[in-house]
Amino acid sequence: MTTAPSSSAPVTAAATPLGGLPYLGSGIGYRTEIKDAVGSPTSRVDWLEVITEHYLFAPPDVRDVLHRLRRRFRLVPHGLELSIGAPREPSSRYVDALARLVEEIDAPWFSDHLCFTRAGGVALSTLTPLPRTREIAREVGRRAQRVQAAVGRPLILENVTYYIDLPSPLSEAQFITEVMEHCECGLLLDLTNLDINARNHGYRAVDFLDAIPVERVVQVHLAGGTGGEDDRMDLDTHSEPVPPVVWELLTKLVARAPLRATLLERDQNFPADFGELQAELDHARRILTGARDARAEVR
Ligand SMILES: [Fe+2]
Repeated sequence: MTTAPSSSAPVTAAATPLGGLPYLGSGIGYRTEIKDAVGSPTSRVDWLEVITEHYLFAPPDVRDVLHRLRRRFRLVPHGLELSIGAPREPSSRYVDALARLVEEIDAPWFSDHLCFTRAGGVALSTLTPLPRTREIAREVGRRAQRVQAAVGRPLILENVTYYIDLPSPLSEAQFITEVMEHCECGLLLDLTNLDINARNHGYRAVDFLDAIPVERVVQVHLAGGTGGEDDRMDLDTHSEPVPPVVWELLTKLVARAPLRATLLERDQNFPADFGELQAELDHARRILTGARDARAEVR
């Protein structure tokens, strides 16, 4: 069980519980379209990310799916509805159910998005980015810490894409850094979202990596997006193979941070041949283990 920071001083990476997290390797988002291929005895999948809300209040037969998967895979719940950035605290019903789910499947951590998905009691059905002020970053960090403490396992927060960038006192990297300074949570860095945001809003993804506390990055998401209809914006459709630029970002990141896991996040346009996704899973694992081996040699 983690507890809230005892003072208002910023949290340093060394003070967080993230160092003891297990190494999971190369995983994939569990989706109906690929369940048979993932479950095949010949698949090489190290772990699975499952959508929290599909199971949170599900009947026992649906929950049993998780128990069967857990016999072979480590599972990590990835949520859409925590709405950590909303001014109101997440409902205790949701957080209590999340704690039970995490305990039941012995998840090493759980994740959700650094955004809000509810406002005034209304579900927005979209990952809405937050105004980037110090005050909001502080509130979000402290709220994330309370949720983490209530659930009893590390919470890692994911960067989202945004297509309109309203003037804000903090850059995206500064905002994330400020959130991390007020909690002991980790980061789920979606490298595809980072690449898309960098191109849509005119900054360098590598500068972003330099600016955030990379030692707090526990896991990444890897996917492919598409160009927008008018070719002016790139979209995070999670429907395409992981592009070379995202693989390059992963290589740069693993050289800087002891990442625990990569996750292939394909949400649509699944290839008929799972071999295509398997090749991406294997490639991610090679990058991850290559960096681990290099780190071990240095020691
Ligand atoms: Fe993602």
